[in-house]
Amino acid sequence: MSTYVKGLEGIVAAQTEMSHIDGQKGILEYVGIAIGDLSTKSTFEETVFLLWNKRLPKQDELDAFSKDLAKRFALPAAIVEEIRRLPKTAEPMHMLRTMVSSLAMYDEDPNANSVEAAREKSINILGYAPSIVATFDRYRRGLDPIAPQPGMSFAENFLYMLNGEKPTETMARAFDICMILHADHGLNNSTFSARSIISTLSDVYSAITGAIGSLRGPLHGGANEGVMKMLGEIDSVDDVESFVMGRLERKDKIMGFGHRVYKTKDPRANALQALAKQLAEDTGNMDLYNKSHRIEEIMEREVGAKGIYPNVDFYSATTYHCIGLKLDLFTPMFALSRLGGWSGHIIEQLEDNRLYRPSAEYIGKHEVPYTPMNQR
Ligand code: ACO
Repeated sequence: MSTYVKGLEGIVAAQTEMSHIDGQKGILEYVGIAIGDLSTKSTFEETVFLLWNKRLPKQDELDAFSKDLAKRFALPAAIVEEIRRLPKTAEPMHMLRTMVSSLAMYDEDPNANSVEAAREKSINILGYAPSIVATFDRYRRGLDPIAPQPGMSFAENFLYMLNGEKPTETMARAFDICMILHADHGLNNSTFSARSIISTLSDVYSAITGAIGSLRGPLHGGANEGVMKMLGEIDSVDDVESFVMGRLERKDKIMGFGHRVYKTKDPRANALQALAKQLAEDTGNMDLYNKSHRIEEIMEREVGAKGIYPNVDFYSATTYHCIGLKLDLFTPMFALSRLGGWSGHIIEQLEDNRLYRPSAEYIGKHEVPYTPMNQR
C-alpha cells in the first residue's frame, strides 16, 4: 500500500553523503562539517571539492582542483558568439538555462555518463557558468566581455568579469561566502529534478538544465528576487508593520520566510544576516538591513509559532544588493553556487542509479463510455 503525500513532504527519495539537515534544530552540515565552520573557514572551491569527493582536499589537491576549474573560466569563442545572438531583454535565468543546454552541442561526447565523464562535464559547466552570466550581462549593457584573470578565485573572477575591475577583498570574500552557503541542501526541488533527469541516463547537461528551470521558481531560488522587490515596496522601517500585517491578512506569503524542512531559523540565514549587516554598513544600505530585521521581528511574533522563520533567500537579497548585483542576477548567483550541489548529486545518482518513477493516485472516473463527436 502506498500513500499519497502532497508535495512529497517527508518522503525519502535518495541517499546522500553530501548534506545533512536537521530542520528542528537548525543544523546544516556538508559531509558532516557545520555550515558555520565552512562559511568562516573554507572557500567555494574547497567546498565543491568536499561535496564531490566527500572529504576535504590536501593543499596540492585543492591547488590542482582550483587550477583545473580556472582553466574553464575562459569561454570558447563560439559560446560568446551564441550569447551575442540572444535577445538583450532575456531574463538571465532563461539565458543561463538555455546556454547550459547549448553546451551539450559543443561537447564531442555529450551523453557520456560514466562517473568520470560526469565529473569532467560538471567542472566544465561550473567553470563556464560564471563567464556565461558575466558575458551576457556585459553584452546587454553594450560592453565587451572581459577575459578572466589567472590566479583569481571563482568569486573574484566572476565579479571581475562582470564589473571590469578587481573586487575588494571584502566583496570577493562576501561573494565567496554566499557561494559556500548556497552550494548544497539535501533533496531540494532543483536537486531532485537533476537526480530525476539523470536517473533516466539522459545526460549531465539535461539534468542541470532542468535543475536551473526548477530553481528559478519563486517558491524556490527565485524567492531572493521576490525579497528584494518586497523591500522596495516598503518605504521605511515605520511602514514594515502595516506592510507585513496587510500581507498576512490577505494570506499572501512573505518572501524569504518558511521552509519545507526548517521549522526554525535556517542556519544559512544566520550567516547571511551577519554578512548583510556588515555589507549594509559598509555600503550605506542600512535601510535595507533595518527593514529586513524589522520584518523578521514581526514575522517571529506573528507566525514564529507555526515554524515560519527566515530562509536562505531572506538576507541573501540585501547581501547581493550590497555586493552591487542587479536584481535579475540574484537567482543566477544561487544557480552558480548550486551547480556544485547539483553536480555532486548527479555523480552520486550515477554511482548507484535506479530510475525515478513514482506513481500517481488516479482519482478520475472509470468505465466512461466514449461519446461520439456529434453528441458531446
Ligand atoms: N509567509 C507567510 N505564511 C507562510 C509563509 C510565508 N513565507 N510560508 C508558509 N506560510 C504559511 C502558509 O500560509 C501555511 O499556512 P496555513 O497552514 O495557515 O495555510 C503554512 O505556513 C504552511 O505553508 P506551505 O506553503 O503549505 O508550506 P510548504 O512546506 O509547502 O512551503 C515554502 C514551503 C514554499 C518555502 C513556503 O514557506 C513559501 O512559499 N515561502 C515563501 C517563498 C520562499 O521564500 N521560498 C524560498 C524557500 S528556500 C529555497 O527554496 C531556497
